[in-house]
Amino acid sequence: MREGSSPLIRREDYTAPAYWIRSVDLSFDLDPAKTLVVNRMQVERNPAAAPGQPLRLDGENLNLTRVLVDGESVSFRVEHQQLVLENLPEAPFTLEVRTTCAPEKNTQLSGLYTSGGGFFTQCEAEGFRRITYFLDRPDVMATFSVTLRADATKYPVLLSNGNLVEQGRLEGGRHYAKWVDPHPKPSYLFALVAANLVCREQKIRARSGREHLLQVYVRAGDLDKTEHAMNSLIAAVAWDEARFGLSLDLDRFMIVAVSDFNMGAMENKGLNIFNTKYVLANPATATDADYAGIESVVGHEYFHNWTGNRITCRDWFQLSLKEGLTVFRDQEFSQDLAQSPSARAVKRIEDVRTLRQHQFPEDAGPMAHPVRPDSYVEINNFYTATVYDKGAEVVRMMQTLVGREGFARGMTLYVQRHDGQAVTCDDFAQAIADANPGSALATHLDAFKRWYGQAGTPRVSARGHYNADARTYTLDLSQHGLPSPGQPSKQPWVIPVAMGLIGPRGEHLPLQLVGEDAPVGTERVLVLHEERQRYEFVGLDAPPVPSLLRGFSAPVLLEDGLSDAELLHLLTHDADAFNRWEAGQRLALNRLLGAIRGGQALHLDAPFVEAMRTVLRHPTLDPAFKELVLTLPSEGYLAEQLEEVDPQRIHTVREAARLQLAQALHHDWEWAFEAHQVRGGYSPDPVSSGRRALANLALAYLCLGASVTRDPVWPGRTYQRFKDATNMTDRLGALSALVNSHAELAAPALERFHAMFRDEALVIDKWFALQASASENDGRVFARCRALLSHPDFSLRNPNRARSLITALCFMNPAAFHRTDAAGYVFWADRVLELDAINPQLAARVARAMDRWKQLAEPYRSAAREAIARVAARAELSNDVREIVTRALAD
Ligand code: PHE
Ligand code: ZN
Repeated sequence: MREGSSPLIRREDYTAPAYWIRSVDLSFDLDPAKTLVVNRMQVERNPAAAPGQPLRLDGENLNLTRVLVDGESVSFRVEHQQLVLENLPEAPFTLEVRTTCAPEKNTQLSGLYTSGGGFFTQCEAEGFRRITYFLDRPDVMATFSVTLRADATKYPVLLSNGNLVEQGRLEGGRHYAKWVDPHPKPSYLFALVAANLVCREQKIRARSGREHLLQVYVRAGDLDKTEHAMNSLIAAVAWDEARFGLSLDLDRFMIVAVSDFNMGAMENKGLNIFNTKYVLANPATATDADYAGIESVVGHEYFHNWTGNRITCRDWFQLSLKEGLTVFRDQEFSQDLAQSPSARAVKRIEDVRTLRQHQFPEDAGPMAHPVRPDSYVEINNFYTATVYDKGAEVVRMMQTLVGREGFARGMTLYVQRHDGQAVTCDDFAQAIADANPGSALATHLDAFKRWYGQAGTPRVSARGHYNADARTYTLDLSQHGLPSPGQPSKQPWVIPVAMGLIGPRGEHLPLQLVGEDAPVGTERVLVLHEERQRYEFVGLDAPPVPSLLRGFSAPVLLEDGLSDAELLHLLTHDADAFNRWEAGQRLALNRLLGAIRGGQALHLDAPFVEAMRTVLRHPTLDPAFKELVLTLPSEGYLAEQLEEVDPQRIHTVREAARLQLAQALHHDWEWAFEAHQVRGGYSPDPVSSGRRALANLALAYLCLGASVTRDPVWPGRTYQRFKDATNMTDRLGALSALVNSHAELAAPALERFHAMFRDEALVIDKWFALQASASENDGRVFARCRALLSHPDFSLRNPNRARSLITALCFMNPAAFHRTDAAGYVFWADRVLELDAINPQLAARVARAMDRWKQLAEPYRSAAREAIARVAARAELSNDVREIVTRALAD
């Protein structure tokens, strides 16, 4: 924990550094209790900076033992943890700093720490200063050479960035390795690993003809779980060459899995360090979703090699420059691998669902911030859904405005202009626009960039009017934004609205605007850039149904006033799979929200049920798509649609809807379950995973139905399937069906599952998460969560394990968490405080479970405020948590 309270850092205060560090030579004598770091830097004044400034090197929790300038001792002082040197030579000089640190005491998992008996590092954003004194900011780029010394038996593998240039034995059973990274990089991309690991490796030849060695390092027992990560890496290398002409610039590219990790993975140059969750998979332990997660995270980190590492951020306010762009790239990668139009649409729907579930609430709450924030207290709090996922949507809109080829041209120009530099979001947008003169992006660039500066989700409304005499259809679009913290009013955004018009027989109508000579296709992108704009379509013989915001072409809230009949028309006929899904969700939302708001019992009407049946039985729609349509909007998403939120009411209504779908479609679910069995060996491809997803959904509904009829057949069959399953997707699907229908067989199944997988940490995480996110039933789920805190396998020190229980309860299970007796909030506050003493970054993430407390109805609201105030009142709170709770309590 840092002392004192940290100041607000502002984007407008950016200044270039007073000195540059051009190269650095690091040597580590690794010891868990006391590691010695000798750091020799080549330093020179920055002629562009104001003269006479001291050199201030960042440091945190270091023991400083020696400072030499050109080999001579000099006077220095340590001020606010910074090492301050004055009266330095005018000419370039060598600065040597010796420090020690204690990796085994580092429970924050930032800097150099131990995990499972090995050494690992995590330096983004500001962890390098916990290893040695440095200009720990991304615009200072240096070449690194690194020597590691450690016990040869305990740490046989010694890795760092770049190329291995030397290794050998030392006295006393120790050994060493020397690594040189020829590419200048900021300190946040530094990494080292010293551990007892094994690796899967593969040589590949790139299109350029260059050979590369790819390696995936894991603990000895995990080698059989590395094939998918390796295949994903090979696919990522090929994809970036094919789609963007970007090839691997290193002889060796390594991935290392570690089980204690705060985030998903980290793109350290040539030495990516991954949470085991995003590396390890075999059919017995990992689900289809895990396989998909690995593919996208392996891709993501690899793609950072260009978008992040070769071209990095000038300062941390530009974080979305690398993260938004790289999320966009990993989304495109997975879509391109999915191939079929339907599988691409499924991926897009999943991405939008994530955006709406996480980013929209963030943008409406106390942590709302622009994609390029203006200020922060703790940068770790800004690795957010807004910077990542909304940032990716901003890049996607650029692609929509300039076209796929135009965007690839823009990327090429961006790399040409900025390779080797630390740049800003403006630089990126400028490059894409400059490569596409005359495009809508170039024309509206300044206004478009408001996406980077304005927080909050824009609201778009659309109204159409058909004129039978003139055979015209007038579409009025308007937009507005609500105030967000520090931004009372908004200017119009540039919003690409992909759209089509659907005729009475489901035909896609040719689109001709008044003044145009002829229709231009059946789909086009309208660019809404003013507060309101009118579009007049001509040559229409009947009133069309508008299909707007196809593929979710902009991250906005659309209010189009469509009737149920019109939504049913879209659900049946829309050629855009995203809008087809959206129409089904809207039909469900209308019914659920009506019952929630009106306080009356939910009754699903026959037309809705028939529409769902038609989708389920549809002869040509893909199973993966059907599964998405037949999954009701989540409780969290429902809450976001309401002015005042009663989580228990939402739960009651949604559970009633699930039960009615279970009963009304009973025979259809039986059919769906039988018809979507996957035989043969396991493969995580979109077709088989879609079939498994639909079969699992069917099973969940069948068990739910049986919970009312008390018919033991389906629970029995489900238990059997649970036992006999040959892959984790089916096994967990069956277990989840039992648990979520409160079947008597759930308890023995859970016990058996635990016994089967007691040595598989990632599977035990699933075991905790499944129980913590189970459908609440008279407080039993919450009681179980409390009991699980003292389960021998539970620990707050391992982030995955802590999240498996706490995140699952506090974020994913509103009905178990929001209790009228406030016990959920007490649980939350206790965990935040406990975690804060161990790992502030993780504590701050958990703290955000209360972001939307002001939306809650009483008595939840007052109880929530009290719990947040209790956390805020703690004197020795980290900056991380303090920033979150302070913002939550602000008006
Ligand atoms: N830069 C990492 C990624 O998104 C995320 C990360 C941030 C990991 C901070 C660790 C610490 O790829
Ligand atoms: Zn990233």
